[in-house]
Amino acid sequence: AMAEKAGFKHFMLKEIFEQPQAITNTVSGRINLETGEVVLPELTLGADALATIERISLVACGTSWHAALVAKYWIEKYAGIPVEVDIASEFRYRSLLVNDRVLTLAISQSGETADTLAGIRRAARLGSRVITICNVVGSTMTREADGTIYTHAGPEIGVASTKAFISQLAALFLFTLYLAQVRQAIPAEQRRRLGQQLIDSARVIEQLLPRVREQIGTMIESFYACRDFLFVGRGVNFPIALEGALKLKEISYIHAEGYAAGELKHGPIALIDRDMPVLAIVPQDAVYQKTVSNIEEIKARQGRLILIGTEGDTHLRTISDDIIYLPEVHEDLNPLIYTIPAQLLSYEIAVRRGCDVDQPRNLAKSVTVE
Ligand code: G6P
Repeated sequence: AMAEKAGFKHFMLKEIFEQPQAITNTVSGRINLETGEVVLPELTLGADALATIERISLVACGTSWHAALVAKYWIEKYAGIPVEVDIASEFRYRSLLVNDRVLTLAISQSGETADTLAGIRRAARLGSRVITICNVVGSTMTREADGTIYTHAGPEIGVASTKAFISQLAALFLFTLYLAQVRQAIPAEQRRRLGQQLIDSARVIEQLLPRVREQIGTMIESFYACRDFLFVGRGVNFPIALEGALKLKEISYIHAEGYAAGELKHGPIALIDRDMPVLAIVPQDAVYQKTVSNIEEIKARQGRLILIGTEGDTHLRTISDDIIYLPEVHEDLNPLIYTIPAQLLSYEIAVRRGCDVDQPRNLAKSVTVE
């Protein structure tokens, strides 16, 4: 079965390496790089309807929920619409203040997750318009929603989601630009530039994949046997810390937590010791200084720091035990780039621990029962 994995040892690794193509597939034909116009023809819900909504409610589970958390930062910043993010199993049972002025956006790789499906059915009954961002053509959610944005990532076999997540991020960034367009929230030229940078992120990832994989392979020997891990980030990269921790839990069975770096002092700092590595996402973005001071607190307590930061940032080297450098991209696109080392780190650790990467115990690709 090496053939169906295209020479890769696991589907997960193959799918990690397919991510540049997944981004390209998601974005392709949907943005005009001369005018900055975003076109989403299969989104049957009209631009008029989207121009007048007052709030967006994002609903998802697992990795798809992490994509939703990133999208909140993007949509509020560029489209100026308040966004709520819910875990579907919570959304479906809480008191929902949803009506016809609220757009419900369900994010699901499979389009079949029971809780997410129940969530959109409930929102629809309350009069909300429903859109899905989905990878599986013709799935239940796409049939029930008022409109779908397909991610076109191709079939994902590995239980732990990788390329589906990256393509969800790409689709959500596109949708953000689309909302900004129908509501005239940002100039066309800015949309065009952001769209171009989204497209370019595929090439950036293509180039960093082999190098980062090799580097991580040589790094993990000193920490693959640890029992606990902490992942931290701020802003758009906070959800990427959550996703990194989830990946590690799912496939290596190491206990891992994701935290907003600014929350460290409210608890997790008490746990810091040499046996619990802290992976910190520290790009040179608007919250860079804040994140650096958070991780310096860890350093001061003799914590073990694995940093992911911007090429050329020599300060990070002086405080890290291990460092992975990534190229500079637009700061709002960092989630796409910084996900890659987190995925590869989990993958290499899981392989080193002898885990069944593609079929982790107790997990299902799609959870179609409650
Ligand atoms: C399961 C999978 C995860 C996935 C989640 C949501 O837990 O193992 O990888 O993120 O379901 O699935 P969905 O298809 O709705 O994105």
